Amino acid sequence: MTKAEFVALDLHDVTIQTFDSGKEAINTYLRRYAAKNMALNLNRTFVLPVPQQTGKSHVAAFYTLALQTIVRADLPDPTQLPRYPLPVILLAQLGIDQRYQGRSLGAKTLVTALRHAWRLASAPDGIAAMGVVLDVLDQDAARFYRHFDFFLPLSEQPDRLFCPIRSLESL
Ligand SMILES: CC(C)(COP(=O)(O)OP(=O)(O)OC[C@H]1O[C@@H](n2cnc3c(N)ncnc32)[C@H](O)[C@@H]1OP(=O)(O)O)[C@@H](O)C(=O)NCCC(=O)NCCS
Repeated sequence: MTKAEFVALDLHDVTIQTFDSGKEAINTYLRRYAAKNMALNLNRTFVLPVPQQTGKSHVAAFYTLALQTIVRADLPDPTQLPRYPLPVILLAQLGIDQRYQGRSLGAKTLVTALRHAWRLASAPDGIAAMGVVLDVLDQDAARFYRHFDFFLPLSEQPDRLFCPIRSLESL
């Protein structure tokens, strides 16, 4: 495997058509929407490139971060919080190419994405966010996320996980 780090998606450098996580929704997002959404400033996708001798790098893993809001009633402990929408960072997508699954890359990608969210939200000149949320794709994904104890389910939405931003400082 490569020692490369995650970089912002740039179609000049990587080919996305060969990416296959085994889940069509995730593949379609990367292949069809990730670059378009970045161009529209809706979110940003970060990829782990694997250089190929023949040309552009493949994508071994990717994640997508966006801004979103939640309401205080969703949170386990809503006291003290205002009634207006609360800012969070959405981990909108996360996928590992099947060739690289089962080698801890999913865990590494998740930790990288959460650390990234923490950096964005905690920088003195960044944009504040109370936490990170993600929507669990299916039962396979739910079993994967169960390995990480920093997530809490949101009250009314069991498929939506939440992680307070302050809990990521020591990640
Ligand atoms: C889910 C996914 C990210 C896991 O990636 P991965 O690289 O295979 O995961 P890792 O090797 O880092 O596994 C980390 C831990 O989760 C476990 N795990 C991973 N997938 C699992 C699954 N489907 N069921 C149960 N456990 C799973 C591993 O056994 C490992 O546990 P261990 O530390 O006790 O050995 C990957 O299969 C994937 O991209 N799936 C399709 C897209 C997807 O579902 N994305 C999540 C969207 S919400």
